[in-house]
Amino acid sequence: MSDESNSRGEFAQEPSALQNREGRLHPFNWYREMRAENPVSYDEERDAWDVFRYDDVKTVISDYETFSSATTPEDALAGDGPNPLSESMISVDPPEHERLRQFVDDRFRPGTIRDRRPSVETVAKSLLEDVEGDTFDLVSAYSFPLPVVVIADLLDIPAERRNEFKQWSDALVAAPREQTTETLQENEQQRTQSMIAMTSFFRDILENRRGSDGDDLVTLAANAEVLSPTEQLGFCILLLIAGNITTTNLITNAIWSFAEQDILDAVASGAIDREAAIEEALRFRSPVQAMSRVATEDTKLGGEEIEAGERVTAWIGSANRDASVFDAPDEFRPERSPNRHIAFGSGIHYCLGAPLARLEADVALAALFDRYETIEMTDAPLQAVSSPVVYGLESLALHVE
Ligand code: HEM
Repeated sequence: MSDESNSRGEFAQEPSALQNREGRLHPFNWYREMRAENPVSYDEERDAWDVFRYDDVKTVISDYETFSSATTPEDALAGDGPNPLSESMISVDPPEHERLRQFVDDRFRPGTIRDRRPSVETVAKSLLEDVEGDTFDLVSAYSFPLPVVVIADLLDIPAERRNEFKQWSDALVAAPREQTTETLQENEQQRTQSMIAMTSFFRDILENRRGSDGDDLVTLAANAEVLSPTEQLGFCILLLIAGNITTTNLITNAIWSFAEQDILDAVASGAIDREAAIEEALRFRSPVQAMSRVATEDTKLGGEEIEAGERVTAWIGSANRDASVFDAPDEFRPERSPNRHIAFGSGIHYCLGAPLARLEADVALAALFDRYETIEMTDAPLQAVSSPVVYGLESLALHVE
């Protein structure tokens, strides 16, 4: 174990294997090597354990008694500033977890979410109407704004401020491309500033809606007596950031994968089932590659001794490529059944927004195929998003007819 104290900023945020352009774009070779040779290993540079095999990853993200979610956002996301996120459902263990999640569970059930299909379709169509010319960047024109407008609608907050929302969310999941003490400190400062901005944005709105009878999620939180004011803030901030970059990258990664496999036409015509292809994109290029926990007690995993208080990173993106669960894991096979990917997590913290993310991706692809007869990737170089957790592309230039 490292003797250095774990004061934030002293440690790298990303494993060194992923601190370069190629590693970020194709982390899967590193995962394969680690699954075979070092499936549970300690990284001195990050002062954290890394876990790569499917069964171990599932254990870490679902066994909340041994692996707590309690400090995740402080360590991985929010820096040293005020942090209502640490009082949101994603950062707490039972029994608080149930209280923070139950009051909203109904709003995200598949049946309830299905009713939103027409309004998501309207958003998708109107974004495509704004696309000009026959070559455009899918990310900035479509996969980024779509989930932001949808969640802004659910929270009833002005979608026009979406560029600010993006800056805030990006700051929370970003890692600097070059990791030096300076860039890491700057990165941490930006996280703190974003947290302050989001806190003041939602504090005012929550205040105004307390006691009112609106149907939106901010009003639901403002009137939830089971939540303290900080927990109400944490809930709003979590919803604003959890579903945006993730869903953006699901849409982008799906189109990227279909183009690469030359199956865009087959998915568009229905010869390949669209929903199954989206599930395979979730497995093959998982938008969330890793989640962190902290060991609550000394424990053994994969033959290694993990001590109480140590941080553990569970590599979801690696679990989803584990040959002990998926045949030919490095092949994109939409016909896989069952497809037991854990892209939305597992256990009590299973993604609240999974039905919404699936709906958004399905509508986004359907609208795109409806609008264009042919869609092709150009040969513009690909740049992965610079983040230790989120996986996708900064931009994806498409040629359409
Ligand atoms: C493709 C898109 C998405 C992916 C890949 C994704 C992935 C995940 C994962 C892996 C977790 C588990 C975290 C953990 O175990 O610590 C999670 C939790 C969560 N997600 Fe998502 N997510 C997506 C979209 C969304 C959307 C659209 C929303 C809401 C609008 C959302 C809201 C949440 C919330 C609130 C939690 C915390 C649940 C809890 O702690 O009980 N996500 N998500």
